[in-house]
Amino acid sequence: MIKLGLIGCGNWGANLLRNFYSLEGSEVKWLADADTEKLEAIKQRYPNIKLTTVFTEILEDKEIQGVIVATPPISHFAVAKQCLLAGKHVFVEKPLALRVEDAQTLVELAEAENLILMVGHLLRYHPAILKLREIIDSGELGDVFYVYSQRLNLGTIRRHENALWNLGCHDISVMLHLLRELPVQVSAMGRSYVQQGVEDTVFVNLNFPNNKMAHIHVSWLDPHKVRKLTVVGSRKMAVLDDMEKENKIVIYDKGFVIPEGNALDGPIHLREGEKTLPAIHRQEPLHVEAQHFVECIRKNKKPRTDGHEGLLVVQILEAAQKSLENNSIPVEINAEKLSLNPEGI
Ligand SMILES: NC(=O)c1ccc[n+]([C@@H]2O[C@H](COP(=O)([O-])OP(=O)(O)OC[C@H]3O[C@@H](n4cnc5c(N)ncnc54)[C@H](O)[C@@H]3O)[C@@H](O)[C@H]2O)c1
Repeated sequence: MIKLGLIGCGNWGANLLRNFYSLEGSEVKWLADADTEKLEAIKQRYPNIKLTTVFTEILEDKEIQGVIVATPPISHFAVAKQCLLAGKHVFVEKPLALRVEDAQTLVELAEAENLILMVGHLLRYHPAILKLREIIDSGELGDVFYVYSQRLNLGTIRRHENALWNLGCHDISVMLHLLRELPVQVSAMGRSYVQQGVEDTVFVNLNFPNNKMAHIHVSWLDPHKVRKLTVVGSRKMAVLDDMEKENKIVIYDKGFVIPEGNALDGPIHLREGEKTLPAIHRQEPLHVEAQHFVECIRKNKKPRTDGHEGLLVVQILEAAQKSLENNSIPVEINAEKLSLNPEGI
């Protein structure tokens, strides 16, 4: 039985608790939240869990092997660092940290102590994302030309981190996974309408090698609830719509054909064939993610979204933030400088 502690039981922590609690082979022994009202509510629903307002109490328990950090991002670094220093495996919610140097410190610490560091890039555990990568890898879409995503809603407005850091980390993680490459350049434009200095709407452009490009639109100030990802390839196009209950992915056999021997100003034909709806496993991504963390502890395995992957995403977020603050100037991403192996994405 792998014993776990959870730090931070707000909106998202409650979902993490529900999922980790339901796993076989692990037990949520401790829960810490600075807010006593939250603890009171937990006590009613989960009477067996030990509760504390001081998270370091969890770290003193020698039985605890893994800790889940679901506090606001501003405290991820400090809390996760203390957990690692106490010899615990750590799952940190996204983003891993709010500064590259902090993310780097966590990665180095986990490596030095031989501990698992996993980041909550939830979409990497989403069956539809896994299916989409399978489709891309099979060559069905041909060469991928470009990818764009929309993550919009009139949604929870954060007080500290902006929409880029709050929402965009999911999309960056997914795009690296789908394209299996690191971008060479990033630029971003965003504006703060609700609170000064906290951008509500951000547009990010990523340039990838071989003429590939990606675009991310994130906003919590939008009339539509949209969770969509479009991949345009040389043979077919695919759309993943996470708001759809049934057919989350549609593959369109659409494209263009330049007839052989066509003169330069001759017509380019458009091709519109069948739509296909690939079957996708029905699994709650958060459950898969929780199971993965426990399995990594049990088998001493490298998580799919390990600290390195989390660091890479923070590096791209930081570059996008730099562009955002400097009139959208393109910021180079020097892949050689990254301490990451892109094969591992
Ligand atoms: N993966 C996802 O899709 C997803 C979705 C939403 C939120 N999140 C992430 O989950 C984390 C939490 O977000 P949220 O919306 O639940 O925030 P929240 O503000 O609702 O909850 C945070 C909780 O942490 C507690 N807390 C803060 N500092 C603490 C400390 N030092 N010790 C103990 N408790 C402390 C607060 O009392 C609060 O209950 C964030 O990192 C966020 O980015 C992830």
